[in-house]
Amino acid sequence: MTKARAYTNIALIKYWGKRSITEMIPYNNSISLTLDQFYTETSVTFTEATTQQKPDQFYFQGQWQAPTNKMTRVLTRIRQMAGLNRQAIIKSENFVPTSAGLASSASAFAALATAGSRAAGLNLSSRELSILARHGSGSASRSVLGGFVEWQAGTDDQSSYAQSLLDPVPFPIVVIALVVNTAPKKILSTAGMQHSVEHSPFYPAWVKTATAALAPMRAAIAQGDIEQIGKLGETNAMQMHATTLSANPPFTYFAPETLQIWQLVQEIRTKGLSCYLTLDAGPNPKLICAKQDVASITTQLHQALPKLAWTVCQPGPAVQIID
Ligand code: DP6
Repeated sequence: MTKARAYTNIALIKYWGKRSITEMIPYNNSISLTLDQFYTETSVTFTEATTQQKPDQFYFQGQWQAPTNKMTRVLTRIRQMAGLNRQAIIKSENFVPTSAGLASSASAFAALATAGSRAAGLNLSSRELSILARHGSGSASRSVLGGFVEWQAGTDDQSSYAQSLLDPVPFPIVVIALVVNTAPKKILSTAGMQHSVEHSPFYPAWVKTATAALAPMRAAIAQGDIEQIGKLGETNAMQMHATTLSANPPFTYFAPETLQIWQLVQEIRTKGLSCYLTLDAGPNPKLICAKQDVASITTQLHQALPKLAWTVCQPGPAVQIID
């Protein structure tokens, strides 16, 4: 049995759309920060039984269930690489401080790729692990690494993987993960991004602007300019969400509270504090700020929205084998 722990990541320049669905190749590079507070632990055991004799088994949230298609994709590749045809038993647990809809496929597939490949006797490089994790979920390609990470879109299977930009992170950047809604997403990211690709006339503009934002984001990270990272991140997030609002039919991941918080963040900025918002395929915003401003920002959030829950995250590490 091999067990791995992988941390989730928040994209600052987002991945939103696949050039190749079968190969999981994105339209544009993305840049993320791995977070230290949310992680998945997954163990994989290959039994003596063959896959013809016994199907794979998956233990999750206290019960046995059939592995998902995305999991099977990763396990099939592991078996092909290792030349092995054994049944896999996978046990997985998500560690999230609040009971939020914050469990992420990014940490799940980075942990599965790492534990599964090691259990099969493979010793993969971080590039190979990133490629493998990508076949589970695109964002998982980045959770193989810690700190700031860039996923090179590439043009084919072997050229599409994540690389480290900066790890460890020597400046005090913090991400405050806010929880406005814990209900499961109605439109999963896989379907949501494909809808934007096919039905938003703004999609080509998204790819162009996201690509143009990469160099300034890399520069802001290299300079440790938290304000600039936040600014670029907020603009990129809103540009991504504009492709859902502009699709036909349109949809949105915003909840009323999401907009309320965005307005509050803008107000907080007028008081001289640096605080920016980003948002993935769900209503829960993440605020980018400097560590020294966390207390003033959360005090203001609490005054305006007394029921709001949050978790303060710092840069997190790369995937680890823990057993
Ligand atoms: C908005 O990686 O969950 O979080 O590759 O289809 O599994 P699939 O999608 P997923 O999408 C993540 C979308 C995002 C932006 C990002 O993390 O870059």
